[in-house]
Amino acid sequence: MTMNAITKSLLSMSFSFAIAVAVPALAQEPPGGMPQPVPQTPPTHDFVSHIGSVTGHADKGKEDYRRWCIGCHGPYGDGNGENAPWIEPKPRDFTAATFKCRSTPTGMLPTDEDLYNSITRGFNTSNMPQWRPLTPQTRADLIAYVKTFSPRWKTEKPGDAIKITPETPVNIESIARGNALFVKLECWKCHGPLGRGDGPSAATLTDSKDMPIKPYNFSTGGRLKCGETNADIYRDFMTGVDGTPMPSFADNIKPDEAWDLVHFLRTLQTTRPSKENEVLKAAGGKIPVIAPPAAPPAQESTPAPQQEENKPPSGGK
Ligand code: HEC
Ligand code: HEC
Repeated sequence: MTMNAITKSLLSMSFSFAIAVAVPALAQEPPGGMPQPVPQTPPTHDFVSHIGSVTGHADKGKEDYRRWCIGCHGPYGDGNGENAPWIEPKPRDFTAATFKCRSTPTGMLPTDEDLYNSITRGFNTSNMPQWRPLTPQTRADLIAYVKTFSPRWKTEKPGDAIKITPETPVNIESIARGNALFVKLECWKCHGPLGRGDGPSAATLTDSKDMPIKPYNFSTGGRLKCGETNADIYRDFMTGVDGTPMPSFADNIKPDEAWDLVHFLRTLQTTRPSKENEVLKAAGGKIPVIAPPAAPPAQESTPAPQQEENKPPSGGK
């Protein structure tokens, strides 16, 4: 908190000097010759990013940040840019270093590549644009600069990317097992029984900044924030969407089950063309209801579908 205040006042000085004389104020002696306070954060040039063979440099990223990002994310990276009051959800506060889209376990820093992919992709259903028009070098420089806003990038290492096992076959049994997991793990409480973002808890959810937040509505088929592939969806619920109520289920879901769940979630995107929707259609549009995977020791590997028709998991049974 105090550290933050110091950083802020230093940065604001640096900022106004930079505008006036285009020289970073921290390196300057004020007219009276008084020594400047030593900055608490490491110098900008200490921060780099590595994306494939491209190395990003924060010194360069600083200029690009002021040009492209400052209006939303703010001069101090705290998400309080001049456009922020009119934006919902709010621009990310980089001082917390909490990021939604990661390949790393919940609570851990993302990899440079995760951040690079996020800014390249942009965030659907938000004002965060996609930055594909900027060169890979510029995007890498920006990522290095984003890291200067939080000391976590000096004291912690990004986590190791979670393992994603090879995708299992898409078939109606897999979809049915995924449906059972969706019920058992209570995804529906937030996402709603048909994935429409209208579960019983949906209206009361808030993010880590106490701002209201809506669960993803699968039925729109809209772009997901953290990527469009089946592996991206797998990652969403195995790493969690940090800073939001969307938890990590890494401790509750085995790898094959995760694929089952992905296959089922795709069928909730009813209007989006997918292998999963083709399989469901071929099965007459009905997902067989199977017992939830409570995993008694001698369970059959392919549970036999039961007679009942698929019903939304209302009531959470
Ligand atoms: C018009 C406003 C706006 C501009 C300009 C903007 N952003 Fe964002 N940015 C946002 C919003 C809003 C979010 C939060 C989206 C969400 O939570 O769904 C965000 C989120 C992010 C995230 C978080 C990624 C994650 O996984 O949580 C990063 C990193 C980011 N922006 C970087 C940048 C960079 C770099 C630039 C400049 C090239 C930039 N943004 C420009 C509005 C903006
Ligand atoms: C406590 C409420 C809650 C529960 C329980 C929950 N979610 Fe979410 N989920 C959310 C919220 C809120 C978001 C939106 C995050 C955002 O937009 O930043 C979300 C987003 C998602 C996304 C989209 C992420 C993206 O890239 O846009 C997927 C996929 C998802 N949830 C799957 C699941 C699955 C599968 C389960 C159960 C295993 C589950 N959720 C349980 C609240 C929840």
